[in-house]
Amino acid sequence: MEQTNKGGAVVITGAAQGIGYAIAERFAAQGRRVVIADLRGSEAAAKKLGHDALGFDADVSNAAQVDALMAFAAERTGGVSVLVNNAGIYTTLAKTAFDEIDPEEWKRVFNVNVEGVWYCCRAAARYMKSAREGNIINIASAAASKGTAGLLHYVASKAAVVAMTRTLARELGPYGVRVNTVSPGFTQSDGILAGGAERGQQSEDIKRQRVVQRDIAPNDIAGAVLFLAGPDAGMFAGQNLIVDGGLTMN
Ligand SMILES: NC(=O)c1ccc[n+]([C@@H]2O[C@H](COP(=O)([O-])OP(=O)(O)OC[C@H]3O[C@@H](n4cnc5c(N)ncnc54)[C@H](O)[C@@H]3O)[C@@H](O)[C@H]2O)c1
Repeated sequence: MEQTNKGGAVVITGAAQGIGYAIAERFAAQGRRVVIADLRGSEAAAKKLGHDALGFDADVSNAAQVDALMAFAAERTGGVSVLVNNAGIYTTLAKTAFDEIDPEEWKRVFNVNVEGVWYCCRAAARYMKSAREGNIINIASAAASKGTAGLLHYVASKAAVVAMTRTLARELGPYGVRVNTVSPGFTQSDGILAGGAERGQQSEDIKRQRVVQRDIAPNDIAGAVLFLAGPDAGMFAGQNLIVDGGLTMN
């Protein structure tokens, strides 16, 4: 039977909290069937969201768990229409000089932020290709353009995501699948807010450097994701939307 995913799942990784949850809220409000995927707490987050959202615990750095996630989403909704690769290691990282980064931490950042995106795209593309439609939005970071000091592994991982988006866009474009990147600036997500006074100071310093001098809310990032996934962005492919209040410009 031909697989169709029109109206299929919107799978959002790392969506039990933070930017991912804000993205989930916006898609759900549009009547889309959202699947929240996270290391833990996915079902509870889906229940909190309402709108028939589904939850599935999966570690994006584990290919078998990712395959199971996409199979679950397709089975329960008829396909995978949108994938938002939002899960990432960032808010728990301490700034460290490039020559003092623990090689194990470097590997973990790449396993999640880079291989995780590859595994999710690979698994979701199976459903999108057969339906000949789909949208993938990868969450990178403005840090990749800015070259933020003290986070070499993170900056490199997000630059990889920006570059991967371009190749994925070319390979999946012929199947009607658009792939784009959203690169947030420093955003008041749950992970950042949990960082206390130190993060508060960092936030004030960064705010002063912006053209738009206010905090970035998770919803500001969600707006860009919804735009790229929607019909008004029909001619966007392989692009990188930086949402940082004009701190970096490209
Ligand atoms: N907050 C910012 O300032 C900022 C800026 C630029 C980019 N980003 C990016 O935005 C995304 C979301 O960040 P946030 O600030 O909302 O973070 P957050 O820490 O509030 O939430 C991240 C979520 O991802 C989940 N996660 C982590 N590793 C995972 C894995 N292996 N598999 C599945 N889920 C996993 C966590 O459990 C958590 O729920 C990340 O990719 C981050 O790099 C954030």
